[in-house]
Amino acid sequence: MADAYSEEILSRARIAGFFPTPAFLCRLQDPEPLNRQLRDIILARERTERGLVNSNVGGWHSGRDLAIWGGEAVDTVLAAAREIANKATRDRKGRLVRPAWRVECWANVNRRGHANKRHTHPGCFWSGSYYVDTGDGIGDDLGGEFQFHDPRGGALLNNAAARAVVPGDAAPLVRPAPGLFVIFPSWMLHSVRPYQAGGTRISIAFNLALPQAAAP
Ligand SMILES: [Fe+2]
Repeated sequence: MADAYSEEILSRARIAGFFPTPAFLCRLQDPEPLNRQLRDIILARERTERGLVNSNVGGWHSGRDLAIWGGEAVDTVLAAAREIANKATRDRKGRLVRPAWRVECWANVNRRGHANKRHTHPGCFWSGSYYVDTGDGIGDDLGGEFQFHDPRGGALLNNAAARAVVPGDAAPLVRPAPGLFVIFPSWMLHSVRPYQAGGTRISIAFNLALPQAAAP
């Protein structure tokens, strides 16, 4: 009797995703010709520009004006980022919208030991990275992974026993690959684990913000 009752309940059960967080992983086909151009442009700039310190722990973080000096190769990356964002941006009625995004972007060059601290991108809507070069390799013990952090405050406050068996993935890691886009909501905490391999790791980071007129 009890089994029949359980089966009846299970037959009607559904898993609802309340407040799911969208993130996009999208890899360009044959990215090397584009990445060759980007690599040359970014490494040439690194030789002449001191760079900024934001979330980066070591490495070179260019000014946020890469869209101005990056030429057509950077335009190509930003056009793809806009298209990915437009596939996921809807109004309150669920209709797809194509905002006139305000875009800023910068280049990151990391070498052995460099990382990015946990941070968000306040005031923006979508943020993301495009990987130009992943250095000598990314493996289980080579670091350099992009890490999302659980945005659910209540989940983090849970007790130790419950933390050992979380629903879903508690610390999702994305292993960079040349030509890969990672795009996520700007409020989502993220970091980059220290890179342990050799070579030069190059990425482009970008923010897409809504037009000023759309702000409340
Ligand atoms: Fe970031």
